[in-house]
Parts: sequence; structure tokens; C-alpha cells
Amino acid sequence: MRESNWIHLFQQMPDLLAPTMAKDHPNLPVVKEEGCYYYGVDGKKYLDFTSGIAVTNIGHRHPKVVQAIKDAADRLLHGPSGVIMYESILRLAKELTPIMPEGLNCFFFANSGTEAIEGAMKLAKHVTRRPYVISFTGCFHGRSLGSLSVSTSKSKYRQYLQPNGLTYQLPYANPKTCPDGEDPDVYLARQLEKEAAALFAHQVTPEEVACMILEPVLGEGGYIVPPKGWLHKVREICDRHGILLIFDEVQTGFGRTGEWFAAQTFDVVPDIMAIAKGIASGLPLSATVASKELMQQWPLGSHGTTFGGNPIACEAALATLEVFKEENVLENCRIVGQYARERLDELKEKHAVIGEVRSIGLMIGIEIVDPMTGEPNGEGVMNILNRCLQKGVLFYLCGNQGEVIRMIPPLTVTKEQIDDGLRLLAEALTEYENEMGFRSFEAKMTGR
Ligand SMILES: Cc1ncc(COP(=O)(O)O)c(C=O)c1O
Repeated sequence: MRESNWIHLFQQMPDLLAPTMAKDHPNLPVVKEEGCYYYGVDGKKYLDFTSGIAVTNIGHRHPKVVQAIKDAADRLLHGPSGVIMYESILRLAKELTPIMPEGLNCFFFANSGTEAIEGAMKLAKHVTRRPYVISFTGCFHGRSLGSLSVSTSKSKYRQYLQPNGLTYQLPYANPKTCPDGEDPDVYLARQLEKEAAALFAHQVTPEEVACMILEPVLGEGGYIVPPKGWLHKVREICDRHGILLIFDEVQTGFGRTGEWFAAQTFDVVPDIMAIAKGIASGLPLSATVASKELMQQWPLGSHGTTFGGNPIACEAALATLEVFKEENVLENCRIVGQYARERLDELKEKHAVIGEVRSIGLMIGIEIVDPMTGEPNGEGVMNILNRCLQKGVLFYLCGNQGEVIRMIPPLTVTKEQIDDGLRLLAEALTEYENEMGFRSFEAKMTGR
């Protein structure tokens, strides 16, 4: 049995792990995870509203998944497809097909989100024989060089790397920019039409564009939910020019928005999808998904993998799918997501540092501002998150300046757990506002 208190090792972390890997918030040293909780080296129990960054969507270490992993390990650890073939990878493709958007029925399994994105863009270029890719400002697609070439959530991710120049960007829809009195669906779709026309007129002809790639809900870039009409306009522009549409559903996928995928929530069918994160409840697994017709145009050997579609990860994914169905996880996501949103809207009324609450299902962003100026307040987020951590609840963060508290609990979370977590968040907000003298400012503004 390994020592459960390894805090002496934790103290050596700065020497042992690359800071780029280990300095993120909250970096909680844990000994165990279960359901909606982490158990710290300090002996404390922490309510988890991060799901390990949108991965453990059915809770940590669901017993069914753990059992499936143990059983699988007794049979097959490694399955380089091409050398051998095994049942779980085929069964997984078969079981995933009915939950995918219509027509997406052929799978290339890999290990991580960024690999699924690389595969998606390579496929689009092979099929169209066109060189260019259009992405949307603020989106994040991963950290390998191809994915970085279309990721613009933060410039520091791209610094010095000169990711390949075969990409162009269009602005992502932000409902905040819609003038009062205008319908965001119509207004932002019209804006996109103009922006695309300008891009095609000045920089690249649409006939040279292989694909457009985007997150159907902006994730790392700040949890921004675009209007449905805008996403339909993206589809329409792609269709008009024979451009393939790629949805990066690495974070929105596997139930996070209340349907299996955001494509279904918004009723838009992409040509290619990248899925990962929640698919196997913590084991590394991802997939590039498209129709058979598209996949057949990709010559043998033009893409490959040693570890992708690992047999244990596939069994974990199959068990995850079963749990989703048996425990009505999608329905819980919709119901508890709505509940959380209502509680947060109430919290916003009481706390001037909350600029905006944005959500879809259990993908929730709480934007923190300086109430005096309305400016994004990343320092405030760190202060509040550290207080939350001390109180026993973990949140994550996102947004270009880290100004958004990212709340992504397991989709199996209960209303009681939401109440527990938000009570601690409210305490942290009050303490922060008191420390900064914002409470008296707020009282003056609101008379409360
Ligand atoms: C939308 C999106 N795409 C791609 C990725 C990259 O996934 P990975 O870290 O598994 O490579 C992420 C990771 O956070 C993501 O949120």
C-alpha cells in the first residue's frame, strides 16, 4: 500500500514537474476521488465543480466504469489497431453511432482532444484538397501545433511558435455585442455574413478553404453561448462554398449541454466532429468522427496511431454510455443545470462583482468584474477561487483574462450539492467584496 500522505513529494513539485504543467489553479494534492468529491492529502473532502476539466461527467470513479476497467485489464492492455483487432473498439463505434448527429457514423479513435482536432483538419484537407482553415477568435482547440494554429483563446499559447499560416479567423458570436432592441439570432447572423464576405473578398477565396472549425459553445475562451441563428449561418456559409464544418465538441460533448452533443442542442449537423474528455470518464480516449463517405476519401496510412482507441479506454467508454442511459444523466444535467442557473441569477442580484452568468446545461460561466469600472477582473477570480478552495469547493477558471469562474460539476450532481457549493461561493464573494471595499460601493449604488 502506498503512503497516503505524500505532502513531502508535493513540496518538490516545482523541481520535478515542468511549471507549465503544474502551476495551474487549484493543483489540489489529492489521495482519492469519488462521485462529486476529491479527498485531499490534508484529510479534507472537497466538492468538485471542475469534473477534472469536464471529463468525469458521470462522477469520479463510477463503480461500473472501475469494474469495466478491471475486467478489461485482465484480458487486453494494448491494442494497436492495424496489428490486432478487438471487440471493444468495434462495439464502441457501434454504440456511439446512434447518439451522434445524423450521418456521423465512422470513427478514428485517438487519445486526446488535440489529436482528434488534428485528425479532423487533416481529413478536411484530404477530402477537399484545399489548404486553408477558418477558425473563430477566442476558440481553443488544443496545444499541438496544428490545433494551436486555429486556437486563439490566448496569444500566449501561440507565442514564438509561429503556428502554420494556413489559417484565417472570423469573430466568434458574442450576444453582449448585440445592440438593445435587436434580435441576437438575426443580428449576429447578419454580422457573420458581412465578416465572411470581407474575409473572402480581401484575404482568401472560399474555394481555397477546406473547413471552418469552432467550438459550438466557447469554452476556454470564456463560456460564451452563441445564438442558434449564428451557428446555423456558419453552416449555411459552409454549404454555399463547399467548405466542411468541424465542430470541436471536446468540452461540450458527452452530455455537458443537456444533449449528447451541442450539435443536437443547437440543431446543426457538422461534417466532422472531434470528441474526447467525458467519453471515457477519465481514461484517455478521443475520436474524429465523420460520415463513411468522407472517411473513405482518406487514403490508407495517411493518418494513424499507436495508442489510440486503447482497449481499456474503450471498455471505460462503453460503461460510461451505459451509466448515462441507466441513470438518466442527460435529464439530470438539464434539470440541475436550470436549478443552478436560477440560484446563480439570484446570487448575481446580491453581488456586484458578478458581471454576467452564462450557461447551457451544466456548462456554467460566472464572469467577475470590477464593479466600479465593469472591467474583467481576473485577479478577483483567483482571490475568490482560493477562498472557495479553503472552504472546500473547487471551481476552475476561463476567459481571455481569467475573468470567468468556470463551473462544470459532474452531470450527476444533485441540487443539494449545488446548494452546498454555491453557499460557499457566496461566502467567498462576500469576503472578497468586503476586502476590496466593494460592499459599501454596492450599497451606495443599490441602496441595499
Ligand atoms: C474545446 C477543446 N478542444 C480541444 C481541447 C484539447 O484537448 P486535450 O487537452 O485533451 O488535448 C480542449 C482541452 O481543454 C478543449 O477544451
